Amino acid sequence: MDDWDRVAAMIVLGIETSCDETAAAIVRDDREILANVVYSQLDEHRAFGGVVPEIAARAHLDILDGVVREALAQAELAPADLYGIAATGGPGLIGGVIVGTMTAKALAAATGVPYIAVNHLEAHALTARLTDGVAFPYLLLLVSGGHCQLLAVEGVGHYSMLGATVDDAVGEAFDKCAKMMGLGFPGGPAIETAAANGDPKRFDFPRPMKGRPGCDFSFSGLKTAIRQAILKSVGEALSDADAADIAASFQAAVAETITDRSANALQQFSEDYPEGNTLVVAGGVAANTELRQKLSGLCALTGFRFVAPPPVLCTDNGAMIAWAGIERLRLGLTDDMEFAPRPRWPLDTLQA
Ligand code: KG4
Ligand code: ZN
Repeated sequence: MDDWDRVAAMIVLGIETSCDETAAAIVRDDREILANVVYSQLDEHRAFGGVVPEIAARAHLDILDGVVREALAQAELAPADLYGIAATGGPGLIGGVIVGTMTAKALAAATGVPYIAVNHLEAHALTARLTDGVAFPYLLLLVSGGHCQLLAVEGVGHYSMLGATVDDAVGEAFDKCAKMMGLGFPGGPAIETAAANGDPKRFDFPRPMKGRPGCDFSFSGLKTAIRQAILKSVGEALSDADAADIAASFQAAVAETITDRSANALQQFSEDYPEGNTLVVAGGVAANTELRQKLSGLCALTGFRFVAPPPVLCTDNGAMIAWAGIERLRLGLTDDMEFAPRPRWPLDTLQA
C-alpha cells in the first residue's frame, strides 16, 4: 500500500511569505479550510510608511515556524497527516519568498510528501474556486498591491491577458495616496475608512482611460490629481473633513474607472468564451466595498455572475496558496527541490 493511501483526503498546508503577511493555512480538497493563520507585520513596517524588504524577510524567518505550528494545532493535525506542502514561489519580495520556499521544502522532505511552488497570482486567481466552486472559464479582475490585470482564466496554469495597467498597480495608487494624505499604511483600508465620512462628488478627479477601447488601466494621472488637490485645499494641515472628501472622491474615481475597463473586458470575454458567464475579482483591493458594489452592478446589467471572495481571502493569506497547491496536485503537478524562488513570475507565462 502506498504511504499516501492512509490519508483519506487531500489535505494541504499552504505558506505565504511574499510581502508583509506571514501566513499558513490548511485546506482540504472538499474546499474546507481547516486552519487559516495570518500574521500581518504592520507594526514592524509602520514607522517606515511602507514595507521594508529586509525587515519583512527577517520577520518571516522569526515568525513562520510558529505560524505553521499554530495552523497545525488549529486543524488538530500533525505534519504526517498532510498530503502536500505548498508555498508561494513568487512573484514577490525575494527574501520572504526564499524563507517560505525553504521552509516548505524542508517540511516536504521531512514528511516525504510532494512540494508545490505556487505562483502567488495564480493563488489569487483560483481563490473563487475554493470559496464558490466557480467553473472554468471565467473572467478575472486581479487588483492587488503589485498588479492590476484583466485575464481570462481557462484552467489551472492557463491564463490569457486582456489588459493591464500601463503604470501603477491600483493597490499602489491607494497606498501612495494614503501616504500623501497622512492616512497611514496600508493605504487601501485607511482610504476606505476615511471615505466612509466623505463626499465622493466634491472633487472631480480624472477617470483615466474611461471610454477608451481595450482593457488597459492607468493610475498615475489620478495620483497627480490627488497631490494637486491636497496642495490646493490645505493651509498647513489637511483637515479630517478634507481628507475624507479626497478619499471618497479618489475611491469613486478608481471604482468607476475599473468598472469601465471591466465592462470592455466582459464584452471581449463573451466573444472569446461564449460558454463563460462569471466575473471574479481577486487580490487585496478586491476587499474594497465600493469597488465590489460597482462591479456587482455591472454584472447585474450584463447578466454575468459576480463572485468576490470574502475580504479576508482577498488580501494575502495561506488558504489561497494551499488551494492552488490542491488544484496543482490534482493534475499531478508538483515541483522538485531544485525550484528557485522567482521575484518576477507573470501569470500568462505559467504552464500547467
Ligand atoms: O493582495 P495583497 O494583499 O498583496 C499583494 O499581493 O500585493 O494586496 C495588498 C494591496 C495593498 O495595496 C492594500 O492597500 C490594498 O491591497 N487593499 C485595499 C483594501 N484592502 C487592502 N485597497 C482598497 N480597499 C481595501 N479595503
Ligand atoms: Zn497578493
